[in-house]
Amino acid sequence: MADANAYDLIVIGAGPGGYAAAIRAAQLGMRVACVEKEALGGTCLNVGCIPSKALLESSELFEQAKRSFERHGIRLGEVTLDLAGMMARKDRIVQTMNRGIGGLFRKNRVAHVRGTARLAGAGAVEVQGSDGAEVLHAAHVLIATGSAPIPLPGLSFDGTYVVGSTEALSFPETPERLAVIGAGAIGLELGSVWNRLGSRVLVVELLDRILPGMDLEMASELKGLLERQGLTFQMETRAGGAEVRDRKVHLTLVSGAGTREEVCDRVLVAVGRRPHTEGLGVKEAGIALDERGRIAVDAHYRTSLPGVWAIGDVIAGPMLAHKAEEEGVAAVERMAGRAGHVDYGVIPNVVYTHPELASVGVTEEEAQERGMRVRVGRFPFRANGRAHCLDATEGLVKMISDEKTDRLLGMHILGARASEMIAEGVTAMAFSASAEDLARTVHAHPTLAETIKEAALAVEGRGIHI
Ligand code: NAI
Repeated sequence: MADANAYDLIVIGAGPGGYAAAIRAAQLGMRVACVEKEALGGTCLNVGCIPSKALLESSELFEQAKRSFERHGIRLGEVTLDLAGMMARKDRIVQTMNRGIGGLFRKNRVAHVRGTARLAGAGAVEVQGSDGAEVLHAAHVLIATGSAPIPLPGLSFDGTYVVGSTEALSFPETPERLAVIGAGAIGLELGSVWNRLGSRVLVVELLDRILPGMDLEMASELKGLLERQGLTFQMETRAGGAEVRDRKVHLTLVSGAGTREEVCDRVLVAVGRRPHTEGLGVKEAGIALDERGRIAVDAHYRTSLPGVWAIGDVIAGPMLAHKAEEEGVAAVERMAGRAGHVDYGVIPNVVYTHPELASVGVTEEEAQERGMRVRVGRFPFRANGRAHCLDATEGLVKMISDEKTDRLLGMHILGARASEMIAEGVTAMAFSASAEDLARTVHAHPTLAETIKEAALAVEGRGIHI
């Protein structure tokens, strides 16, 4: 009789990287177990991408109901916030998706093992569950344990006043004054949510710009728009410490101008995430880490320990759900002797502010730094008919192509539905398209996507509508 604890593959972590890998491996005929200590879906589904997008949508509708409906000729009377109802909707969405992953596991015969996993020698994983420990065996182990928020010295998380993104997705009431440390994706998205729901939001950022890594022109444009929405920014400033007195946080801010105190109700620390390997027995197993504490892997996602593989936020690269998912699938395809592959040059990156900022490929600064000779085309949403109908005239599309070959090198979209529109740039780049290819592609009229065609035309200086 087959050993019930023997598998071909044990996946540790059921986030977007781990659960997708488990399903793909099962499709390829492997006997798979996926160990997870919390709910299926990982950070992304439970306390990250999905609940934040639910709140971003609800808070944006609240904002529109208060400020924009009248422009459409719709009168609503007094608009009030039911925060508990908004949170309940978010929770329902998460539960539905949790159940969906459970269903996918059953359909694909992936064994869902509840508990905390620890590497226990070659091909062995010990799982500490609610009723004791058991040891599972497999030829392959895939580490997909994700990441956790980085705490700041002097501002340790207390779960109530100084918090990370998890708690900031579930504040029981709207904080009157919210300080956000870090103008990255988390800070700007959750800062936007609470600003729309009535908080006064101060964003504190170490650098002189927001969203490092994104195209500077687009990020600067977005910062201006967020300021118009009411967010305040304190740039080139570091949060030096926080003290809670009388249910208020006294935050110390340090900048070139000196030190000052800011009093607020809550502080969200969103200064990045670090790979999550605690308690996994990685060091004891002798698995090599890179200089930044991430698990070192080769081009096939193999760690230094034979039979152990790693993908997603625990290894190098952008900490994005879709990057983890692609890596998970590629890794198990390699295990199965297939040619799994991730095209790292075309991984989209989206920040779900209003408007959204989406990006793929090189930024203009990166092109300059790398000595690439490029042409840049721009097109503003205010010159697009559909954008006017949608009340979405803010932002622009920026396209970067090779000066000589016209091959598309980067696309950046600041505007409504940029998260959806960027897929056109990703596909075009994945197929090595030129800006001219996009310029000659028929785009339905009237659509926001026409801004992409126009930016492509602008690369050659022959835009029709500008
Ligand atoms: P981040 O790395 O994106 O941004 C952190 C920001 O904090 C940077 O601007 C940095 O300069 C600043 N910072 C660092 N130390 C600081 C200090 N002491 N004082 C003030 N500012 C400081 O990190 P974030 O926003 O926490 O996100 C973590 C990860 O999650 C990122 O890799 C991000 O890409 C990912 N994520 C992606 C989302 C999306 O794709 N929409 C949404 C949320 C997170």
